[in-house]
This record gives sequence, structure tokens and C-alpha cells, in this order.
Amino acid sequence: MPATRVVPKELLPVANVPLVQRAVAEAAMAGVREVILVTSPDKPLVGAHFQADPGLEQRLQDWGQSRILEAYRAIVPAGVTLRVVEQPVPRGLGDAILCARDLVGNRHFAVILPDDVIDMPAPGCLAAMMDVHCETGACVLGVQPVPAMDVSRYGMVKIVDGRITDLVEKPAPALAPGNMAVMGRYILPPQIFDALLQIAPGANGEYQLSDAICLLVKNKPFVPWEITAPRYDCGSRLGFAQATIALSLHDPDIGPALRAWLTSEVTLE
Ligand code: G1P
Repeated sequence: MPATRVVPKELLPVANVPLVQRAVAEAAMAGVREVILVTSPDKPLVGAHFQADPGLEQRLQDWGQSRILEAYRAIVPAGVTLRVVEQPVPRGLGDAILCARDLVGNRHFAVILPDDVIDMPAPGCLAAMMDVHCETGACVLGVQPVPAMDVSRYGMVKIVDGRITDLVEKPAPALAPGNMAVMGRYILPPQIFDALLQIAPGANGEYQLSDAICLLVKNKPFVPWEITAPRYDCGSRLGFAQATIALSLHDPDIGPALRAWLTSEVTLE
């Protein structure tokens, strides 16, 4: 509040691109061709952002607005189909994933949490994780070390001999199995859906994806992929501000001027 009073947080723009569009672009760069947006019935604008508007496209063409037209066309990457699934009641990430069960079917699939922005050059974080999945066949979780004071905000993994053997959602610092946190990127097997049906509400009273993954790690290889690039928590105001500056600096249109302004005009005292 107040930014998300009527605008869904997924549509807040970081360097002019809404968070959810960044997630779709990252999936597309990883070779994903079918994207499922799981969203709340209260947020019809999330799906609306991706709906084609032939009238607008025609007007932009007629007016010769080629840069704007290009940005409009990039909203849905070429070759990608997008479907929206509603999660009727917000009962946690695990419950949200379960809403996509029928559309995913009996296939491995990836999950991106748009709040977690990973500042990596193309083709991005999920593409790197997909390489690991294709080479090894293992399921892959994107992880990053966090300080002890932050572990209770994340799913914390235990890693033994390069394999994830445990995952604890939002543990107290003394109960964390290590310092590696899952950072909103997953490559999961279809068996996760049955596991999601077996779990009870966990941390915060919500159905937690981490608890379902935990049921699978003994019998299926899950490996960590360490995200060494900066990651911004765009669900927090500080992370959002940092992402806005960092990603705007990469923007060829405004990056150089922003850098010059930051170094010469901004007084940090
Ligand atoms: C979710 C996951 C958690 C993960 C985090 C990353 O938590 O449940 O395991 O570490 O995203 O941002 P949330 O941020 O929804 O509380």
C-alpha cells in the first residue's frame, strides 16, 4: 500500500516492464512455450496485460510508432501461448501450483515467482537451470545464500553431496538446515501434484510448495543451482527500489544518462 491498492503487484513495472512480463520473458528465453499464470480472481488485469489488442496494434502501425509497437509486441514472446488459471482462495504457493495441475499434466514444468527478480544477462536464470535439468534429468531449485537473520523468510535447503536432501519453509534461525534459500525458481516433476495433495497447511497456515518437495527428495534427485547474479526481492520496497535502479542502468535508452546522474548529481550524504 498504497501502490497496490488497485494495481496488482505483479503489474508494477521495474524499469518499465511489469514484473509478471519479466517472468514470462525469462520463461520464453529458457525455451518454455506454454505459460500458465496462476492468479487471483480479484486481479483480472494480470491476464488483461497479455491480451492482444489488434486495434491498438493497427493504430501504432498507422502512426509509424515503431518503438512502441516493438514494446507492445514483446509483451507475449513469439511462439508462447499463455493461459490464466484462477486460484479461488489464496491458500499458499503449494495450492497455487495445484491449480495448474490439469494444464501441466504428466510433464516436468518450471515455476517462476515474479517477485524474485534475478539480474542476469540473457538468456537468464531459468535457462541456466534448464541446462542442468536437460543434462542430468534432475529437478532443479535456484538457491542463494542468505544471512542467518533472514532465514525465516525463505525455504531453506539442506545440500549433501550436491543433492538437496531437506527443505524447511521459513524456519527459525536455529532450525535452518543451512544458509541456502530457494529464490523463486524451480524445475519440478509432475509427481509434485500428488505430493501437494498429501501435505497439511504449514508455515503461515498455508499449503507450502517446500513441504511437498520435501516428500519427493528422498526418491527423486533434486539439485541446487546457485544463483550468483544479484537477486532483488521486489515484494519489498527496498528490493523494488534496488531492482529499479539496477535494471534501469542496463536499459540502453536511459542507462547511460541515469549512471551519469547517479555519479555526478546524487549526493549520498
Ligand atoms: C516463497 C517460497 C519460499 C521461497 C521464497 C523466495 O515464499 O515459499 O520457499 O524461499 O518464495 O522468494 P514467499 O516469498 O511467498 O513467502
